[in-house]
Amino acid sequence: MSNILFFLVNVERMSKHQVLVTGGAGYIGSHACLQLLKEGFEVVVIDNLTNSSKISLQRVEELVDRRLVFVEEDIRNEKEVEKIIRFHNIGSVIHFAGLKAVGESVEYPLEYYENNVGGALSLFKAMKNCGIKNLIFSSSATVYGIPEKSPITENSSLSAVNPYGSTKLSIEKIIQDIVNSDNQWRSAILRYFNPVGAHPSGKIGEDPKDIPNNLMPYITQVAMRKLEKLSVYGDDYDTPDGTGVRDYIHVMDLVDGHIAALHYLLNQPPKNNVIVNLGTGIGCSVLELIKTFEKINNIEVPYEIAERRAGDVASCYADASYAYELLNWSAKRDISQMCKDSFEWQTKNPNGFE
Ligand code: NAD
Ligand code: UFG
Repeated sequence: MSNILFFLVNVERMSKHQVLVTGGAGYIGSHACLQLLKEGFEVVVIDNLTNSSKISLQRVEELVDRRLVFVEEDIRNEKEVEKIIRFHNIGSVIHFAGLKAVGESVEYPLEYYENNVGGALSLFKAMKNCGIKNLIFSSSATVYGIPEKSPITENSSLSAVNPYGSTKLSIEKIIQDIVNSDNQWRSAILRYFNPVGAHPSGKIGEDPKDIPNNLMPYITQVAMRKLEKLSVYGDDYDTPDGTGVRDYIHVMDLVDGHIAALHYLLNQPPKNNVIVNLGTGIGCSVLELIKTFEKINNIEVPYEIAERRAGDVASCYADASYAYELLNWSAKRDISQMCKDSFEWQTKNPNGFE
């Protein structure tokens, strides 16, 4: 086959590939839908909207000028999920749906196990029953527990320090057992570091329901004067300026990592399970993030130094080299871009999608 013909056949194959995106109305899922549509994939979203709004998906369609299919459904509804997979002739699944608040998981462990682990089991059973065995799963750097050192490689020791982390570790294990038991599966477990930022249009972004727990949405709300000031949790860590160091990754880079993983899986023989960190490999402190945010957005972010937050580690950033080696993917956007796009989303949507 000539190169051109091979290219056209491949484009044709990709353009007909239907991807089921669970949790697609949420923060990361909506950005993923956008990039999948841009890449020519067909997209079907299942989301029960417990932590999102379907307006995000309308905005995605506007931005990319293509349509997707949205089904309001709970992934624990195995039979319904099966019907959706069959009806839409799904080829691959990207599984984002889940509850993600660490503090809440400590208070409501049963709900977290039921939703996250129970949901994953139902989804995987539905996939198996339909013979669909290509899977990408949203895991988290939380599976490294309290890391002994950074940068963190994929082979570092694993532990769970809260129920949310336990659900991620359990699902990772379930996926590995499934792949070991059946040589038709292909899976990619992606361990995210700290996703921040938004699509540069400011039309989609992170929309926390309550007062944010995470640093970037808290900063944007302080900058908007929705919150009075930021508490910096500890300035006496063993880090260059004493504040906590994390690996913030732009959500657009993160979802590009998913597209790279999907292309990789579709070109691999079955019985393939890969585990990959998605981070920048660069640590950034709380004070550095505040200063960059103030400079790029030309706005003051009032803050005070507070006590350390229970359970926080001093420093946590990725060794991102395996993602580059395996997927030919690396993060491109820097902290200034993350701060600019986060604030653009917040100023254009002061009340989120409401
Ligand atoms: P999000 O809450 O914005 O999105 C999750 C979506 O899943 C929501 O739209 C929610 O309504 C949906 N959902 C939850 N349970 C469901 C169920 N049973 N059935 C159907 N839909 C359901 O969260 P996000 O930040 O976009 O995170 C996506 C995934 O990435 C999650 O699995 C999360 O644990 C993981 N993750 C997120 C981060 C982060 O900091 N945002 C870091 C590491 C990993
Ligand atoms: N921080 C503050 N003030 C705040 C919020 C956070 O100083 O109001 C500090 C924290 O102490 C930490 C840094 O900002 O040093 C980042 O905190 P985040 O809460 O934004 O993020 P974490 O690294 O604590 O946790 C996040 C997700 C977890 C996930 C973990 C690893 O919330 O679910 O990244 O992926 F497990």
